[in-house]
Amino acid sequence: MSLSVSRRLAAVTAFAVTAAGLYAAATPAALAAPPAATAAAPTPPDIPVANVKAHLAQLQTIATNNGGNRAHGKAGYKASVDYVKAKLDAAGFTTTLQTFTSSGATGYNLIADWPGGDPDSVLMTGSHLDSVNAGPGINDNGSGSAAILETALAVSRAGLKPTKHLRFGWWGAEELGMVGSKYYVNSLPAAEKSKISGYLNFDMIGSPNPGYFVYDDDPTIEQTFKTYFAGLSIPTEIETEGDGRSDHAPFKNAGIPVGGLFSGADYTKTAAQAQKWGGTSGQAFDRCYHASCDTSANINDTALDRNSDAIAYAVWTLGAATPVPPGPSFENTTDVAVPDSPAPAVTSPITVSGVPGNAPATTKVDVNIVHTYRGDLVIDLLAPDGTAYRLKDSGSDSADNVVTSYTVNASSEVANGVWKLQVRDVAAQDTGYINSWRITF
Ligand code: TRP
Ligand code: ZN
Ligand code: CA
Repeated sequence: MSLSVSRRLAAVTAFAVTAAGLYAAATPAALAAPPAATAAAPTPPDIPVANVKAHLAQLQTIATNNGGNRAHGKAGYKASVDYVKAKLDAAGFTTTLQTFTSSGATGYNLIADWPGGDPDSVLMTGSHLDSVNAGPGINDNGSGSAAILETALAVSRAGLKPTKHLRFGWWGAEELGMVGSKYYVNSLPAAEKSKISGYLNFDMIGSPNPGYFVYDDDPTIEQTFKTYFAGLSIPTEIETEGDGRSDHAPFKNAGIPVGGLFSGADYTKTAAQAQKWGGTSGQAFDRCYHASCDTSANINDTALDRNSDAIAYAVWTLGAATPVPPGPSFENTTDVAVPDSPAPAVTSPITVSGVPGNAPATTKVDVNIVHTYRGDLVIDLLAPDGTAYRLKDSGSDSADNVVTSYTVNASSEVANGVWKLQVRDVAAQDTGYINSWRITF
């Protein structure tokens, strides 16, 4: 077909950033944005579990010296806050002590900001620092508190310059009904709430008979954790021991994307769970949950180590605002002719198996279509249940071929099944074929 005025270069709606951070060759040069935000992210550190355990030993000593607990309103709680705050201050954080009153006693939230990053895009990481009255609260929740402290110190050691602004929070009076975190969220003006791009919660991550549970909430955060554990070949499960039972709940209720990790409380490990994770079936994940025996002996070091590393991975990855690293990928390289209009659509199938749960919000579709005029083509991704996701509309687009990547929010689709790339030619004369395509979860 000859080039008519109507086939002038039109706006390109496809976002063509490839995994390599380059703009796909098919993107007209004049429309390509500068590849500024795609620089390689720094490698997340391996958090030394010995350092996390040293913090737990300090929290245990604080409890021992203060009547056996670190509960809201008790001396052991304030001493815990002082310990964490001193470490953060020495590492260059800007710390803020927020006070509130609950059950007639003063409570404290400790907030620590890492200077720099985009003030309008804040990644927040939090854990409750209080125990119940019954004991020192080393797994619940010295474990989360110590792991995020060591992650914050690792941020300082790395001199990290993340894209996002990083903020950490240690909450008071969680055991009285998430009092501290509710107070913090309620104290934020709407404009400040809207700047928090995500909140990561860690409450009980070193359970002595551990499971590996990921909160089933924001898809990007969830996928980040799943990707980390997939890299260790450790199966995870969705956290079901009580949605909304920790400090992420007030953030979620305020419309902030949330996620987190959990190694189990008083629920019983099943035989199937013991099979894949080790440990003892028929026994609670944490037999000392909310009890006096939740001491520094009540920790599984391996779980604490893995979860601490997963936290650092998430802070580095989500804080750098780089795309979630790709999961499994499937390709079809068989050519499929795209007949000239008028003709029905053609499809190229890919059978996906072995991908647990739903597709991510960042499902990536790489398309390679050879064609003499791509403006003729309407391209859809068809999910296994037939739902169509429009990748590209027809229109004046005076170039050949479609060689580009699309990001699709397919988080409501089960990943396993037959996905199809559907291509329809809606204008006469130019023709071509699907050369190959790929879907990455
Ligand atoms: N501190 C929480 C509580 O006492 C522990 C807990 C139980 C939890 N179930 C959970 C934390 C699920 C996160 C997710 O209720
Ligand atoms: Zn807890
Ligand atoms: Ca045509």
